[in-house]
Amino acid sequence: MFRSLLTQRLQTAFDKAGITVPDDFTPAVVLASDTRYGDYQSNAPMVLAKQMRTNPRALAQQIVDALDVTDLCEKTSIDGPGFLNFTLSPAALASHLLKSVTDPHLGVPPVPTPRTIVIDFSAPNIAKPPHVGHIRSTFIGDSLARIARFVGHKVITDNHIGDWGTQFGMILHGWKTLLDTAALDANPIAELLRLYKTINAQTKADPAVLDTCRHELVKLQQGDPENKEIWTRCVALSLDQLRTIYAKLDTHFDHYLGESAYNDKLAPLVDDLLAQGIAEISDGAVCIFFLDLEALADKPCIIRKTDGGFLYATTDLATIDHRINVWKADEIWYVVGAPQELHFRQIFEATRKRGQHANLVHIAFGSILGQDGKMFRTRTGESVGLIEVLDESIERAATVVADREGFTAEEKATIAEVIGIGAIKYAELSQNRLTDYKFSWDKMLSLQGNTAPYLINAYVRTRSIFRKLASATDSGATGSVASYTPPTEVTITEVTITDPAERALALKLAQFAEATHDVLIDHRPNTLANYLYELANAYHSFYEACPVLRSEGTMRDTRLLLCQTTSQVLRTGLNLLGIQTTDRM
Ligand code: ARG
Repeated sequence: MFRSLLTQRLQTAFDKAGITVPDDFTPAVVLASDTRYGDYQSNAPMVLAKQMRTNPRALAQQIVDALDVTDLCEKTSIDGPGFLNFTLSPAALASHLLKSVTDPHLGVPPVPTPRTIVIDFSAPNIAKPPHVGHIRSTFIGDSLARIARFVGHKVITDNHIGDWGTQFGMILHGWKTLLDTAALDANPIAELLRLYKTINAQTKADPAVLDTCRHELVKLQQGDPENKEIWTRCVALSLDQLRTIYAKLDTHFDHYLGESAYNDKLAPLVDDLLAQGIAEISDGAVCIFFLDLEALADKPCIIRKTDGGFLYATTDLATIDHRINVWKADEIWYVVGAPQELHFRQIFEATRKRGQHANLVHIAFGSILGQDGKMFRTRTGESVGLIEVLDESIERAATVVADREGFTAEEKATIAEVIGIGAIKYAELSQNRLTDYKFSWDKMLSLQGNTAPYLINAYVRTRSIFRKLASATDSGATGSVASYTPPTEVTITEVTITDPAERALALKLAQFAEATHDVLIDHRPNTLANYLYELANAYHSFYEACPVLRSEGTMRDTRLLLCQTTSQVLRTGLNLLGIQTTDRM
């Protein structure tokens, strides 16, 4: 990665020039904000000069005099108040291109110190359908898991399903009085939801029903065999259906340890926290207080209610024990909506009080809005079901490819699925996760702009060059989508980069490394999405400016290699966002 190479060279230059820098100082090298001056820039001379109370430009000159970057840069300049600007040489870009094309990681270096990271995402509640709000957690979590693995971390994905909430009191009562077994067989999540909603409405009208539900819940918690059996069936049925959705989304979990997995850990955990003095009894409840923290001073974390019941927070503390003690987690990432921020602050602080060492991160996100700028809902005011959204997206994508020629109906269906699911994922992942965004079918399915169809189409264009190449060299079979195997790619050993569009594309391709690593700094997949969009644009400009198959010799080789690497980076990059590609569309 050019950025870290330049960083290392700067550090060597400090030594060589006898500049003593503070122990914790790493010179920041970033992509140039103004590419007229160079490809990368560093403000290190300014930062150091301030600390050393000396002239930044003079210090910059001292650094440049000691700097050896002849193998990387054609130009190094000092600009403005003391910026260093680096312009990579065509030879360095060419050799990077040659190396990365055969590298399974496409030139993305592994992290120096891999960590064990547990990623907690999706986690819908049983007996309530996963709705469009779960989109964000599922897509962001899956993408972060893919990227963290790609750069060499050990990643454990865990779906902390809400399978033990108070909603089960209503489900149990509904099951016993209202169950429609045929409907349950047909669509268990929908039937469970109907039970929940009907009983919930009844409780509003008649408080006696609420008492019955509470009673059913207590019986379940005390291990009543009948209620336990109903509960087990509800969980199993819901999980089956959830797994079908995840398969469709190509999202996989290493574990499905729902809330109920920790039931028998809660009582001993609370006792232990009391014995250690970390928790205390307050008005009959057991609480952890954070009096030393201004923001939480009046917001204790309750871990046992006065009636003896345990809470969401108690389960989360027990879950952390498991992840740290059994899985040896160095980090736990929670991809959960912003409204739960207080909950996570409390359990993170409680964990700190317990002396547990793991880096806990709440990766929050905002809401998905409808076109009217309000919460995204169906016309009847219900929250939108995830399955319905996926189906609708695939259907709409099908109309986009309906009139394409040269595809069988089956091929078109496959393409519609790739584009439909890709479009929804990309609409999510190209956003800054903290901002609310408007859900717009027209925008996300458009072939123009920063969309999945646009990027998948860019990938298709890279493939079409190789199809033409293959048909020019062998019998000319282009193959169908299903039977199509990419033609043997070119093996090239010599590359020269001359045209500015070639250079711009080669530089973008090399920056796949920075884009991928940067996602994990602040857990934002949109960094990678935006990079891929820029790459697709660079490819289009290159494609306009530089004929590939009609060129000759080393120039043709170089251009083929640029096409090949673009193809690989687009496919791999989209895959890191959980998005599949198709070779033709
Ligand atoms: N089931 C919860 C919900 O839908 C999310 C769980 C998130 N994970 C956790 N460890 N608390 O709101």
